[in-house]
Amino acid sequence: MNDTGRAIAYASSLYLQRANTAYAGYIQRDPMALLRLGPGRANPYPIYDRIRERGTLVPTRLGNWMSPSHRVCDSVLRNRRFGVRSAGTGTPAEPDEFDLSFLEMNPPDHTRLRRLALPAFSPKAVAGYQDRITRTVGDLLDRACVAGEFDLVTGFAAPLPIAVITDLLGVPDADSSEFARYGAVIATALDGITSLRHAWRLQASDAALRRLFEKLFDLRRRVPRDDIISRLVAAGPDQVRPDEILPMCVLLLIAGFETTVNLIGNAVLALLDHPEQWQALCADPAAMAAKAVEETLRYDPPVQVTSRVALEPVDVDGKPVRMGQWVVTLIGAANRDPEAYDSPGTFDINRVTTADHLAFSSGIHYCIGQPLARLEATIALRMLAERMPGLSLAGAVRRRKTTTIRGPARLPVSTGARRRPSTPAPRPVPVADGAARSLPESGWTAGRPPGRQRQSR
Ligand code: HEM
Repeated sequence: MNDTGRAIAYASSLYLQRANTAYAGYIQRDPMALLRLGPGRANPYPIYDRIRERGTLVPTRLGNWMSPSHRVCDSVLRNRRFGVRSAGTGTPAEPDEFDLSFLEMNPPDHTRLRRLALPAFSPKAVAGYQDRITRTVGDLLDRACVAGEFDLVTGFAAPLPIAVITDLLGVPDADSSEFARYGAVIATALDGITSLRHAWRLQASDAALRRLFEKLFDLRRRVPRDDIISRLVAAGPDQVRPDEILPMCVLLLIAGFETTVNLIGNAVLALLDHPEQWQALCADPAAMAAKAVEETLRYDPPVQVTSRVALEPVDVDGKPVRMGQWVVTLIGAANRDPEAYDSPGTFDINRVTTADHLAFSSGIHYCIGQPLARLEATIALRMLAERMPGLSLAGAVRRRKTTTIRGPARLPVSTGARRRPSTPAPRPVPVADGAARSLPESGWTAGRPPGRQRQSR
């Protein structure tokens, strides 16, 4: 088949899958399909409640399982008889899928590569970022203050993690917006490829990002510094193969900003939706910011779902899961499980938690960037409350059109202070209307053998 023929076949399968999802969701009221459609994107929580009514481990339309239960999700994520890809499948799973390094690997490769990335996120290393984060937040708030009204996402929540992760990787400041721009496009693939045009944009961005990274690898081989890329290119092949370096950098780049931006966005949205909680934060920002971050991670987590495949037959909550079957762990649902939390639908930054939320997953894939994300979001909320206690919504909020990742794409706010017209608003940074995780049962790629990302389950 020539290129045009392949493109037509690919586009047809994409549109067929979209039609299948719409039919399954709107006509058959299938909850997994609904989560991928408008209602689930606007508010997935009522759909989770309906799944919960059916039990703690519920069969999916495509012959797998899903769980809204905190206890079951946690136990599946911790169970070494589950993996992130079926036994015996290599990387990458599909030609049009991005290789997300050790996020998509089972041990022993996962262990080897994760070990290499971990030192950059040690408590000592992360503490070393405190000043840089505080400075960046201060600069962004200075600009926002004089502008009076700004988009909290593009003017504040997005530039912060981009500055931090590009710094951590060792991307020169002058190139960071290019890395962020292409990274943001690639991140849109992680919730599924939606059209032929989307596929072409992804291909172009992938090639551009690859070129940027290759140039940077060359530079850091010649002029090493104290950053992740310098350490990766200096590591021996027993630690990391040359072809494994690029995917690891792409993973860190995307994971580093696509999630934290939504944590800050979801936190501000929840706080402004609950004015008494915003006031509680403003009354004591230093003490309450970290609590507000934790409650946001539970109440409205940026990553709503992940999944695991059984590497052998496993009994889960009294039900037999066959080898090769997937369990979709609904993080957003687990975090509002009434078995784990009192009044789970209430946003309360003074909550005394009885269970660890699953926003950063659990088990061997537990997020390595969580200390950094927590620090960034805590400093962001603390300084926002200190500097802008009169913050309020100043226009319509637009949500991202994604399911796996949840957060606002646009969050117009007013500082409550008068605007000086001559001062420019913060320069917007690129934000992907995209996602960082697969949502199974999507129907977008039905018929493929299951890989980890972007498949149906
Ligand atoms: C609020 C912000 C964040 C959230 C909600 C989040 C969430 C998650 C989740 C749910 C997973 C595990 C997925 C699974 O079990 O299948 C994960 C893994 C990961 N995260 Fe994060 N993340 C955040 C921030 C970050 C940051 C800032 C970085 C790096 C700079 C990062 C890097 C990673 C990496 C490398 C993995 C793969 C770990 C592994 O497979 O062993 N994350 N994250």
